[in-house]
Amino acid sequence: MSELASTLEDLRRRFQAELDACSEERSLDAARVAYLGRNGEVTQLRRAIGTLPPAERPTAGKVINDAVEAMEATLADVRARFESRAFESDLAQSIDVTFPAIPSPRGSINPVRRIVEDTCAYFRRHGFAVVIGPEVEPDYYNFDALNIPRDHPAREGFDSFWLSGSLLLRPHTSPLQIRTMQEHRPPIAIVAPGKCFRRDAVDARHLFAFHQIEGLLVAEGIHFGHLKGMLTGMCRELFGPAQSVRFRPSFFPFTEPSAEVDTTCPKCKGGGGSCGMCGGSGWIELGGAGMVHPNVLREVGYDPDVYSGWAFGFGVERLGLTRYEIDDIRRFVNGDPDFLEQLQ
Ligand code: FA5
Repeated sequence: MSELASTLEDLRRRFQAELDACSEERSLDAARVAYLGRNGEVTQLRRAIGTLPPAERPTAGKVINDAVEAMEATLADVRARFESRAFESDLAQSIDVTFPAIPSPRGSINPVRRIVEDTCAYFRRHGFAVVIGPEVEPDYYNFDALNIPRDHPAREGFDSFWLSGSLLLRPHTSPLQIRTMQEHRPPIAIVAPGKCFRRDAVDARHLFAFHQIEGLLVAEGIHFGHLKGMLTGMCRELFGPAQSVRFRPSFFPFTEPSAEVDTTCPKCKGGGGSCGMCGGSGWIELGGAGMVHPNVLREVGYDPDVYSGWAFGFGVERLGLTRYEIDDIRRFVNGDPDFLEQLQ
């Protein structure tokens, strides 16, 4: 037995010496395999236990297990030393914190959103509140209360996506006029931006999902001049003073008198001719407007002999076409970063 013990002691010393001589962590494994691996020297001694007289086997087994435990502890120590050396050398590396970082791409808000925010800012400055409303409406708010009864031909003009029953995806933001007036007494001054949906064929001026911004002012003594002043101011603010804006007589069942507001075509700059953007007229329509119809005021319980008001509904993407001189409304939605970056 003392012979086995001294063989193991000898092995352990050689193992230690080999570990001490290792210059990198990877070589520790080779030493482990040579001594403790499946065919390692210690493993072979363990296999030889079977050849000993049975009475000596338990003691021999214990001596070998003790030796293996000691060798594994030595290996773990040396490994830990390597790891802490690697960590310290990492720490010792100097980092130049003044070196310029790789710039990360900068995002910005979508131009449609920017138009909404700038328009709201203009109206807020003039004392208007900003309200938002549902994108799914019952036909009552979208049509009936706006003086467009069932079977009125004007319903056809809003080529709508109908959902179940009387619900539809709103084709305009005008339902917000009714919702606001039913909740509050005059004076009322609001703008209401939001998404709208229409079964329109998509082209350079039309999307099937677009944005409008609605405006409504109701109080005593409000007249068309107030409307013209506010809308002209808004266009100046968004486009600068040089951009022409015109008011053209029109018809909406919920306003009387009504107007459509046009601006010089951003593509042909008013030249017309064969321009595909404006159809040759030199103008593109921004939105509709007018004096709130007495029937609408009555519907919400306001006395039209006491109160009057104006309303408008503008296409936000159309405002964007004009402001950024863009030749096609689809550019706002096709997600091209090269296009969007130019508008930051
Ligand atoms: C209306 O939607 C009325 N509610 C506007 C209004 C409000 C009139 C308050 C009077 C008082 P109209 O259908 O013309 O009107 O649409 C208004 C604007 O929305 C259009 O001038 C255009 O700028 C924009 N618009 C309409 N359909 C589309 C579309 N498919 N794609 C992009 N913009 C559109």
